[in-house]
Amino acid sequence: MNIDYKKEINRLKKDLDVTVVAHYYQRDEVFEMADIVGDSLELARRCQSDGKEWVVFCGVGFMGQSVKILDPDKRVLMPKIACCAMARMMDGLYFEESVQYMEERGIAREDILPITYINSDASVKAKVGEMGGFVCTSSNAFKIIEKGLETGKKILFVPDRCLGQNFAIKMGLKSCVIGVEVDGKECDPKVADIICFNGFCSVHQLFTVDDIEFYRKKFPNIKIAVHPECDPSVVAAADFSGSTSQLIKYVNDLDPEQKVAIGTEYNLVNRMRKGNTYVLSSTKPECPTMNETTLEDLYNTLKSIEDEKPINEIVVDPEIRKYANMALERMLALK
Ligand code: 13P
Ligand code: SF4
Repeated sequence: MNIDYKKEINRLKKDLDVTVVAHYYQRDEVFEMADIVGDSLELARRCQSDGKEWVVFCGVGFMGQSVKILDPDKRVLMPKIACCAMARMMDGLYFEESVQYMEERGIAREDILPITYINSDASVKAKVGEMGGFVCTSSNAFKIIEKGLETGKKILFVPDRCLGQNFAIKMGLKSCVIGVEVDGKECDPKVADIICFNGFCSVHQLFTVDDIEFYRKKFPNIKIAVHPECDPSVVAAADFSGSTSQLIKYVNDLDPEQKVAIGTEYNLVNRMRKGNTYVLSSTKPECPTMNETTLEDLYNTLKSIEDEKPINEIVVDPEIRKYANMALERMLALK
């Protein structure tokens, strides 16, 4: 039997008490079916107030988890529980090892203020929440780090070293990465303001300074805009760096004749203004886990609600939820 997925998805959305949510990195055909689209900060905020019993979240695992943590009464299903590769680089154990690293070098636990990028597992957010720390996204990292500095504590930034280092540079702060030596010296938490865990996004590591030079040689007046998950050398060489929604605004505000090359996920760049817009890479920078979700998966998930046999439901342990929620709410309270 051939199913017209789009037609069926629209019927199910009408019949069920559900909101379909999609991150900007989703495939076009999935993205088009969503009631709410956005970057990770917008989605975390907007799902809270939609008044629906069910959320079907097309994105990666930590995003669905965040909705469940913020509103435990919501039933959150994910067509694919695909895990962001960066989020997978850290768990509660690695977090504790990072704290221990700082303690062994003379910084007491109570003098550490942890900040976790929202691209992290609930268990990491819980550890951060328990220590009085914050979640941040690439949209609000500046504000959250500023707030963290007010405590006078050392900032432990996890799991993305690039985001931590890029914002340290932007704010005129010193940073180092645990396990990475610079000029033969290991990361010294006593000297640095921000101590970063050595995690990264494999998609955003694809963009290089050579790519920027290539485009600048080809089109001398081109603008280069990148996501702050890119390496600090790439961010330093670019004209602009910003989160997903900040990149969209930057490109929309450009003169239509202005050429721009963008260093972020392919599906988003491909959907931006047509003409004079380039992907800053010779390879296709697709996020493999974001791309796992298909129209068929979305249909199957909605159908499972109709059939009263929900699939891929997000469950968060209550103790983890309690502390992870503190870290998320501290972020949202800062607006
Ligand atoms: P945004 O916070 O910009 O949506 O980024 C999420 C992400 O996973 C980027 O790779
Ligand atoms: Fe994670 Fe990178 Fe994919 Fe974003 S692009 S979801 S950080 S793997």
